[in-house]
Amino acid sequence: MPRPPTVFVCSACAHEASKWHGRCPGCGEWNTLAEEQRAPAAARGASPGGGSAGRASRPVRLADVRADRVARLRTGIGELDRVLGGGLVPGSLVLLGGSPGIGKSTLTSMALGNLAGAGRRTLYVSGEESAAQIRLRAERLPGAALEVPVLAETDLATVLATLEAERPEVCVIDSVQTLHCADLTGAAGSVGQVREVADRITRLAKVRDIAVLLVGHVTKEGALAGPRVLEHLVDCVLQFEGERERTYRTLRGLKNRFGSTNEAGVFEMRQGGLVEVQDASARFVGEATRAPGSVVLAAMEGSRPLLVEVQALVSPSDMVPPRRIANGIDRNRLALVLAVLGRHAGVGAGTADVFVNVAGGVRVDEPGADLAVALAVASAARGVAAGDGTRPIACFGEVGLTGELRSVAHPERRTAEAAKFGLAPVVGPEAGTLRAALRAALPGRSAARAA
Ligand SMILES: Nc1ncnc2c1ncn2[C@@H]1O[C@H](COP(=O)(O)OP(=O)(O)OP(=O)(O)O)[C@@H](O)[C@H]1O
Ligand SMILES: [Mg+2]
Repeated sequence: MPRPPTVFVCSACAHEASKWHGRCPGCGEWNTLAEEQRAPAAARGASPGGGSAGRASRPVRLADVRADRVARLRTGIGELDRVLGGGLVPGSLVLLGGSPGIGKSTLTSMALGNLAGAGRRTLYVSGEESAAQIRLRAERLPGAALEVPVLAETDLATVLATLEAERPEVCVIDSVQTLHCADLTGAAGSVGQVREVADRITRLAKVRDIAVLLVGHVTKEGALAGPRVLEHLVDCVLQFEGERERTYRTLRGLKNRFGSTNEAGVFEMRQGGLVEVQDASARFVGEATRAPGSVVLAAMEGSRPLLVEVQALVSPSDMVPPRRIANGIDRNRLALVLAVLGRHAGVGAGTADVFVNVAGGVRVDEPGADLAVALAVASAARGVAAGDGTRPIACFGEVGLTGELRSVAHPERRTAEAAKFGLAPVVGPEAGTLRAALRAALPGRSAARAA
């Protein structure tokens, strides 16, 4: 019997190559090609397109397609339901990615517990933990977490057969990287395995109308581990972010076939599991200091305004080059803001170390954070508290390379959120330039430059 052909598949972009290359010809990443064995291709037919001959099917006018409005399955976790666009869609696949220990198993166990409590048929499949370990976690969770049936299994065929027999309405697979398909070579978690596992689960889920939450590992860089095709295959991709040692975690939608990807949910990890933080702004403003180097950023988390504290420290350094450390914002954005501050606003960090931190472990990925970073750094460098010194100052806006301030989305919602917490007036793009914003935010008290 002929040996099945060997192909090399890129774990980053799923590009296929016939031989091993150090660098993927598709996406240019290094050392991402992994060997995979394929079943021999079926003999080609003699159709003009070169593919196998098939029977023509009759296309249907969209207006004639039957589309029953199905009710969504609410997980009972408001923030998760909102990010999903109103709950789980029956028969859909949701991929939940996040770094180790962030709370993926906790979140999915809580969701299943709530669904089981609401009378839904559920199943928790774990390839990572034993049933006893899962029980220990469920004991500290609220709701009916202990009512959820659990299967500790890594063999894909067994999992599929169990799904077929049990026919749950909602199922969690924790994680897609731990399941193993015996028909393929390669260890569990390899590109081919992950793709096959996800593909077979998808097919069964669509036929049997099972909503599946697939838990996925992420790489060191924070991307979902496994082939990119995994993200195309599923209906929703959610990312659970935050730092393990911090309390706050953010759930974002990166892709959603049934809703907007603009939504984000904020959670806090407590003894009793993940708790939704609905008044995140109030928490962060309450915790904000009035010291030099602190300002409040009126950010947008999806379609919701969120006030977060941005802190900066500018301190003399012996290091060459000096340190530029950014937590919760993009490091390149910090470099840009520092350059504009020095060139157009007369605040040079020079040889000083600059640290910028978004309090609470929140990550802000929007250009509207620029002005907050600039004001926090200027305030820290001058040793002057922003605003009138009695309450924090709120701001937002993008900093342009010529020192101008640019408008960002939803200025009215940001201003209204700040006003709700008594932070008015807000320094924003209408100040015109970064220099003018600095004048407004840092009143002319003696400016002792740190650098
Ligand atoms: N008794 C407890 N009280 C408070 N927090 C706890 C407790 N037990 C566990 N945790 C928190 O839960 C986190 C683990 O959550 P979980 O197992 O859901 O993470 P995970 O994302 O599934 O991790 P992994 O990638 O290892 O599967 C721990 O990092 C810890 O912060
Ligand atoms: Mg886990």
